[in-house]
Amino acid sequence: MTNSTSNLYWHQAEVTKEKRQALKGHKSAVIWFTGLSGAGKSTIANALEQRLLQEEKHSYLLDGDNIRLGLNKGLGFSDEDRKENIRRIGEVAKLFVDAGVLVSTAFISPFKEDRQVVRSLLGEHEFIEVYVRCSLEECEKRDPKGLYKKAREGVIPEFTGISSPYEEPSHPELILDSDKEPVENLVEKVIEYLKSNNLI
Ligand code: PPS
Repeated sequence: MTNSTSNLYWHQAEVTKEKRQALKGHKSAVIWFTGLSGAGKSTIANALEQRLLQEEKHSYLLDGDNIRLGLNKGLGFSDEDRKENIRRIGEVAKLFVDAGVLVSTAFISPFKEDRQVVRSLLGEHEFIEVYVRCSLEECEKRDPKGLYKKAREGVIPEFTGISSPYEEPSHPELILDSDKEPVENLVEKVIEYLKSNNLI
């Protein structure tokens, strides 16, 4: 009895990640934003991408809703579907790192274990967990898409923070308090981290 992967063999490409990084003039890594809906993950990640462009660094943003409208179409918000969502995104992010790109990801990614799985796919210093911290009260007040209201009314089930858990990172590389500092300051903190770790 063979399983579906037993006759598959990994091919090592001639052009390596290191050669691609050398061409671009900087390292590649995943900047993994995690946090509640409305915490500001996408806003910060978008601003970071613009900032990296200014610095002439190659970056790409994988953003929550966009991925669920395409690659991960059909996945819902059960624990199992969220796990599969994050697993696939982790694999895609790894490909971007192999391509020599600084890839930012903006997903709630509520479960520690799933984030750890992504971390384990990557090398040391290639996974930068950034906790976009914001109180549930503040996220609910912002409610940019009106989803918290619907979740409170029971229209949206399994909503993170209301009827589905969010597990805070224990040892993230960075914590950004989005209810205390403006976006520009938070982006600078990420840039400083990348510079002080010789990633850019
Ligand atoms: S997860 O948990 O990482 O798989 O979620 P993610 O792929 O980031 O998708 C979160 C966005 O989906 C919308 N949405 C919900 N979020 C949480 N819980 C439920 N039940 C839900 N239903 C829809 C919401 O717009 C999230 O976007 P953000 O940008 O985080 O607000």
